[in-house]
Order: sequence, then C-alpha cells, then structure tokens
Amino acid sequence: MIISSNIELEGITKISEVVGITLKKMREYAKPGISTKDLDNYGMQILNDFGARSAPMLAYNFPGYTCISINNEIAHGVPSDKKILKEGDLINIDVSAELNGYWSDNGGSFVLGQDFHNYSPLINASKVILHNAISKIKSGVRISEIGKLINNEAKKSGFKVIKNLTGHGVGRSLHEEPEEIANFKDHLDLRKFQKNSVVAIETFIATHSSYANPEKDGWTLTGDKGGCAAQHEHTIIVTDDKPKILTLCNAIWE
Ligand code: CO
Ligand code: CO
Repeated sequence: MIISSNIELEGITKISEVVGITLKKMREYAKPGISTKDLDNYGMQILNDFGARSAPMLAYNFPGYTCISINNEIAHGVPSDKKILKEGDLINIDVSAELNGYWSDNGGSFVLGQDFHNYSPLINASKVILHNAISKIKSGVRISEIGKLINNEAKKSGFKVIKNLTGHGVGRSLHEEPEEIANFKDHLDLRKFQKNSVVAIETFIATHSSYANPEKDGWTLTGDKGGCAAQHEHTIIVTDDKPKILTLCNAIWE
C-alpha cells in the first residue's frame, strides 16, 4: 500500500507492533521440549489478545497461525506436535497478521540455547545484510539494486541467497505490489521504491541451496541442495531518507 492518510499510518503502525511483539514473545517462549505446535498456539493467543488474525491462515488457509521452520526447513514450516524443539536447533519464526484491514509481516531466525552446530555465522550474516539493505532503501532506488546488495553481501560472507523467496509489498493484503523484491539483481526489473509505500524486506541467506522446494506436506520448504538458511524480515515505510521500520519492536537485531 501507499500511505496517504494518518488513519492508514495508524492502522499499519498498530498491526506492525502486534506482529513485532508476537514474534519477540514467541522467540522468548521457545524452549527445548516444547513442540512447534505449542509455540504456534502461544503465538495465536497473543494475536487473539490484540484482536488480530493470522495472515497466512486468512490469505492461504495455511495450517497454522505462524510459520515455524526448524533446521533444514527454510520457510513456511507447518507447526506440528511431532516437531519437538531441541537445544542447538536453528529456528525461524515468521509472524504476519491482519487487524482492521491492515496487514504486516516480520520474521527472524535464531539458535535455541547453545549453538552446538555453529549456525551463528549464518544468522549474523542474515541480520547484518537485512540492516544494510534497509539502510539503502529510499524513494527512487531501484528494487534490483537492493537485490544486488543482498546477493553480494551474502557471497562475501561465504553464503548464497534463495532465489525463489522474496520480499514484497504489504499493507492492505499480505502480498501486494511491489511483488517479488528479490535477493539478487534481476536485470529485467526496472521498478523503483516509491515514497510512502509499505514493503516487507526479507533476507533468505543459505549455506548450500539457491532454490526452496515444497516438501510432501505441500507447505514446508527445504533447499534444492540441502544445508540450511536464515531469514530476517521487517515491514518498513519507504521515505526520501532512511525508511521507517514499523516492526522494530520485534528486536531481531538485538
Ligand atoms: Co514476507
Ligand atoms: Co514473513
């Protein structure tokens, strides 16, 4: 959406705080021994308390309130009572929701407890790359330039990007114009970021794979060449200067 009134600004600000708080609290709630379904139910309760509705469920009939992807799962992990969290797991939680007709989206990867499997370099690269990408976005900047930056920084850190998962416009629906804000430079993409537009910027930084494919459940995505991936996502408003980060309270950078 492109914000054109204070009412719209208030609407998108509110739901962004809701998804940010939900993501932060879910990350704090995660502990060894609980299932990803337990964690999802906790997230549902927080969204409910705010009167917000799960975006993936509402928009796509996703079988969960939030997406929780663990270890080799890259995204869209389906919460399950059979998936029990263990210390050292790589966990990605992605929370998107709707409130009063406004939609916002955010996510982050982290290690549960001690980093036995050395996921931290991947996670830190993803965080830093998202930070650098967002700091370069302003009205008039080409969308493909941000993709180029993300891909270059991933390579410099010894990683790859997932090419078929992207950022996107958000605000009046979960996925809207500008769609497919890629994590690499698409030479055919001549679009520029527009002032007052609301976009979700998300990294997908991977150890081995360049494409994410669905598993048998039809939802959970894993890499075409194995390994694992980290994602960090903020919903922002594009301005003539630094973007306004609407989901900053999720504390994914802290
Ligand atoms: Co998103
Ligand atoms: Co998301």
